[in-house]
Amino acid sequence: MGSENKQKSILVTGGCGFIGSNFIRHTLQKYTSWRIVNIDALTYAGNALNLAGLTGNGRYRFVHGNIKDSSLLSDLFSDDHFDAVFHFAAESHVDRSIEDPETFIDTNINAAFQLLNSSFRYWKNKGKPKKFRFINISTDEVYGALRKEGDRFTEQSPYKPSSPYSASKASFDHIVNAYYKTYGFPAIVTNCSNNFGPYQFPEKFIPLMINNILNKKDLPIYGNGTNVRDWLYVTDHCEALIEVFLKGKVGQAYNIGAGAEKQNIEIVEAICDIIDKNFNKDNDSRKLINYVDDRPGHDFRYAIDTTKIESELGWKARFNLNDALFDTVSWYIDHQNWIQSIISGEYNSWLKKNYDHR
Ligand code: NAD
Ligand code: TYD
Repeated sequence: MGSENKQKSILVTGGCGFIGSNFIRHTLQKYTSWRIVNIDALTYAGNALNLAGLTGNGRYRFVHGNIKDSSLLSDLFSDDHFDAVFHFAAESHVDRSIEDPETFIDTNINAAFQLLNSSFRYWKNKGKPKKFRFINISTDEVYGALRKEGDRFTEQSPYKPSSPYSASKASFDHIVNAYYKTYGFPAIVTNCSNNFGPYQFPEKFIPLMINNILNKKDLPIYGNGTNVRDWLYVTDHCEALIEVFLKGKVGQAYNIGAGAEKQNIEIVEAICDIIDKNFNKDNDSRKLINYVDDRPGHDFRYAIDTTKIESELGWKARFNLNDALFDTVSWYIDHQNWIQSIISGEYNSWLKKNYDHR
C-alpha cells in the first residue's frame, strides 16, 4: 500500500474559505481513508455552504472556532490524533488590508501564532512523530513585485512584501521557519500564485468580473490593466499541497504556480469573450470595462519558477488556463444562488441554524 493510501487524519484551518473548501472536497474524494477536521471562524469570507455537500460524511468534522482560541485548540489536539495541520485560515484580500491592516496583523500573525504554538506543543507531547507536518499555506506576494521581463520568483528570492496583507503573511512565514530552526518543528512553507476556480469570494478579481458581467455592471480595472498575475487553478494547488505533505522536506519552502502569466486586462477580455460567445450571445461585455484609480502599492508582476517542486516532488500544474477559465465561468453561471446568498447575507444565517456558536 502506498503511504498516501494509509489512513491519515488532518486538521485544516480556514476550510470554509475558497482554497480550503476546494482542498477538503478534493482530498476526501481522492483519499478515501483520510479524515479531516476543519476549524473555521466563519468570517465574512468563510461560508459553511461551501461544504454543505459533506454534511453526514463520517470522515469530515466541522468545528466553528477561531485559531486564536488556544483552549479550543488544546481540546481539539487532545481529542484527536493528527498527522498534519494544513493552515489556510487568513484574511486574504489585499484591498481590505489597505483599509484595515490591524485585522490582518491580528489574524495572519497573532492568531496564526496560537495555532503554530498549539501544533508545536501537540507534536512535542506526542514524542515528536517524524511524519507529522505543519503545512503553512503562504503566498508569492511575500516576494514583492517583479519588474524585469523573464524574471521569476524562486525559493531564494528575498522577501520584499508591499501590502499589509503580504507583510503579515511574510511575518508568519518567518515565525514558522524559526520554529523549524529552533525546535526542529517539522514545518513546510508553500508560496503560491493567484488561485481561481469555484467558491472564490466574489470580491476577488475573477469572480468579481464574472458576476459584474452577468449583472451588466462596470468592470473596474486598477491602473492601466497591464499588471501581471500567474494564474493557478485551485485544484492544481490542492494537488500540489498534498505532494508537499507526502514528499516535501521539512524546513523547506516550495513555490507553486502554473506558468500562466496574463495581464489583468487580458483576463477580463477573455472572460467577456467566453460569456458573450457561450452564454450571453449578442452582448458586447467589453464595453463594461472601466479603468479606475490604481491600488496603492500595487505590485506590478508576479511569476513563479516551479523548478523545485517539479524536480523534487514531481508536481506540475495540469490545467490549461483557457479551459479552466471556461469551467470557472460556467461554474459561477450554474451557481448564481451561491453568489446571491453571499450578496444577500443569507449564507451567514444558514450557518446559524446549523451550528452552535462557540
Ligand atoms: P479566503 O479568504 O477565501 O478564506 C479564509 C478562511 O479563513 C475563511 O473561511 C475564514 O472564515 C477563515 N478564517 C479567517 N480568520 C480565521 C480565524 N482567526 N480562525 C479560523 N478561521 C479563520 O482565503 P483563500 O483565498 O481560500 O486563501 C487561503 C490561504 O491561501 C490564505 O492563507 C491565503 O493567504 C493563501 N493564498 C491564497 C491565494 C489566492 O489566490 N486566494 C494565493 C496564495 C495564497
Ligand atoms: P486580487 O484578486 O485582489 O488578487 P491580488 O491582489 O492578491 O493579486 O487582484 C488580482 C489583480 O487584479 C491585481 O493586480 C489587482 C487587480 N484588480 C483589479 O484590477 N480590479 C479589481 O476590482 C480587483 C479586485 C483586482
